[in-house]
Amino acid sequence: MKKLLYQFDTDPHPSVFDNVVGYDGGADHITAHGGIDAGNVGSLVEGAIFTRSPKDKKNTAIFVGGSNMPQGESVLAAVRAKFFAKFRVSVMFDCNGSNTTAAAAVAWLAHGRATAAAAVVFAGKRAVVLAGSGPVGQRAAALLAREGAQVAITGRKHAVVQGACEAVKSRFGMQIEAIEAPSNDDRAAALEGAQIVLATGASGITLLEEKQWRENPSLELIADANAAPPAGILGVGSSDRGTSSHGKILFGALGFGALKLALHRACIARLFEQNDLLLDAEEIYGIAKGMVGT
Ligand SMILES: NC(=O)c1ccc[n+]([C@@H]2O[C@H](COP(=O)([O-])OP(=O)(O)OC[C@H]3O[C@@H](n4cnc5c(N)ncnc54)[C@H](OP(=O)(O)O)[C@@H]3O)[C@@H](O)[C@H]2O)c1
Repeated sequence: MKKLLYQFDTDPHPSVFDNVVGYDGGADHITAHGGIDAGNVGSLVEGAIFTRSPKDKKNTAIFVGGSNMPQGESVLAAVRAKFFAKFRVSVMFDCNGSNTTAAAAVAWLAHGRATAAAAVVFAGKRAVVLAGSGPVGQRAAALLAREGAQVAITGRKHAVVQGACEAVKSRFGMQIEAIEAPSNDDRAAALEGAQIVLATGASGITLLEEKQWRENPSLELIADANAAPPAGILGVGSSDRGTSSHGKILFGALGFGALKLALHRACIARLFEQNDLLLDAEEIYGIAKGMVGT
């Protein structure tokens, strides 16, 4: 029986990235729909849940993606609302790669460095997610907070950052501090007293100069999610994975991006192992922690 993945994307054109990784994760066939919303997804879900016998339903799965996180979350809720009794299939939620990217980054930060024997304890540490109002930043902030860190998100406009913090609070119940920081100097100031910084700004946008983290005495762990030059945090090499520099440990986008890709594929593979799995932030982070360092 063929493993069928239904890719429901809130953007007009479904993500090619998610499509390719879906195949690499083990799907035999992917049907990708763009322009999906909570109002039009219902009949598609019915087609997925009413077609195969209970023992065969694990061969059908759903992936929810797209660049708009609130829309994606409402699609996920609409998908789940259609399930009842044994009429359900496994679902993965990963709008803009938010869960897999954030989980890979935070799992590596928790691991500390490739050669470290012990995991880093986040409790009592201050973590700042630069430009964290986007999908990746919000998920990363939530995961860092769940690990016990005091977390702040920066962004260019207070109202936008505050909205992101409220979204995290509503979804995860975690309190995140909102900091308006429109310039590199403002972002450097936001890092005073912080031990962890993760940059999750839009592709190719520099958020911090090298001297601004080098001269910060409290910073221990520095990670940059932006893979497109110039770097989000200058001085962090895109392939850094636990690299020591000026007394800090650095992770670049490709450094943890390998785990992100492996994680995404592993999650797709798991969808086809049972028919009632939900893979969202918490579950995907759990899988990432199991994979990091292996
Ligand atoms: N390494 C990997 O494996 C991997 C995988 C997926 C994604 N990524 C990368 O992860 C990063 C975050 O992804 P995302 O989808 O969450 O990003 P996003 O939504 O495109 O952008 C994140 C935030 O960047 C800020 N921003 C946008 N333009 C800016 C500018 N000109 N100056 C300063 N800030 C600006 C915005 O915050 P404000 O408006 O609040 O300022 C925005 O919310 C991206 O660089 C993406 O390419 C990496």
